[in-house]
Amino acid sequence: MKKLLTLAVISIAVFTLFSCTGKSKSNTAAQNETKKQEETVMSTAATESNGMAAKFMKSAEKAKVEAEAQSAEIEGFEQKEPIFESAARHGFKFGTVINPQNLQKKSYTDMVKADFNSLTAGNEFKAYTLLSQSGSQKSENGMPVMNYYNADNIAKFAQENGIGIRGHVLVWDAYMPAWFFREGYKNDGAFVSSDLMKKRLQYYIEEVIAHFETNFPGVVYCWDVVNEAVGDGANEYKEGDERHVRTSRGGTTNYFYDVIGPDYVELSFKYARQAAKKANANIKLFYNDYSTFYSPKREAIGKLIESINKNEKLCDGVGMQGYVGGYGQQAGCMSANDINLFKNAIVFYSNLGLEVHVTELALRNYDKTKAVQHANYYENFFKMLASVADEYKTLTCVAIWGICDNPSLPKNDYSYKMNGPYCGMYNYDCSKKPEFFKVIKALE
Ligand code: GLA
Repeated sequence: MKKLLTLAVISIAVFTLFSCTGKSKSNTAAQNETKKQEETVMSTAATESNGMAAKFMKSAEKAKVEAEAQSAEIEGFEQKEPIFESAARHGFKFGTVINPQNLQKKSYTDMVKADFNSLTAGNEFKAYTLLSQSGSQKSENGMPVMNYYNADNIAKFAQENGIGIRGHVLVWDAYMPAWFFREGYKNDGAFVSSDLMKKRLQYYIEEVIAHFETNFPGVVYCWDVVNEAVGDGANEYKEGDERHVRTSRGGTTNYFYDVIGPDYVELSFKYARQAAKKANANIKLFYNDYSTFYSPKREAIGKLIESINKNEKLCDGVGMQGYVGGYGQQAGCMSANDINLFKNAIVFYSNLGLEVHVTELALRNYDKTKAVQHANYYENFFKMLASVADEYKTLTCVAIWGICDNPSLPKNDYSYKMNGPYCGMYNYDCSKKPEFFKVIKALE
């Protein structure tokens, strides 16, 4: 037994010894292997990150060099004349947008007075702002009643400073209150007949055109008669309608179409022309829309204007809104191809015998680090505008909607997405950005 026990102890000891040695041997090998692998990974990562860092440094350096070159170009730059004078040499007015808040901001009004000779009210000339529901409900002749308070303040500012106004807009289905189309102007009234609605619309158009012409003679030099009446998808217009006149917008009924009928656009132009004649006003009439430089919208707009002008020239021109670049995102911004498409569209409308206004230009940019490229894009865009204006002589106004940067807007804000936070020629405080000087350079 003792012998047996001794043997067992010896064999356990030997096994332990060997297995421990084996273990420690293979452990070392594995650790070495792991270490080697780690070293390889680390050195590869180091090489890669060195490469990336080098690349980053290169692009950062490049951006820095470009930014320095741009500021050197701008430094000491002397503006010889207001931009609207440079634009006038190419035959177009230089415009921007204003709202009642801007009107209270001296830096904004100074900016406007210095370089612009056309203004568009953000919302104050629109029917949904002008129409008074309570006033209309009490109206003695049954026709709509308007409240011009904010619009008049803008018109007064323009008049006092010798600036023209793009009247924007008489007929737009978006945000249009349904009560305007209902009996007694009540929220729950039945929809009125097509005939009565035509009378209301005609009255509205006549009154509004006459109001501004009477109170601010010659200030409103054109009106967008209808905005965005061409549908985007086949579900937004009737099959077979080559004008693509929208029956709905994002699922909401277009009441103008529904209550008046498929010819509400043509009728609006007829009423507007009659109203301008009656008021003895020298006003150009425009059809305004977005995506005007893309097919098939471009062609549908052509067909719609052909229909408006079938018997008499009622529509003088096309308003190209001009939101250029990705919607709410950097992808698609500052594309050279868009400049080309824009130019082709101006040529297309010019060849139809129409004037062209760029009405709501926003050269979108969502990325602050792309400031240099954005300024260059501005230059290229305005070079295109100047050259097409010189050649065709039909481009008569360029109005910028995305005029000042607004980086503090939340990303889900509509204006953030529409314009892009770094779209401007000016910073938020209305100080000039390189884009400002690039526009001057492009118009030289
Ligand atoms: C459209 C209208 C403008 C304005 C913008 C949004 O383009 O024509 O008046 O409401 O939408 O900023």
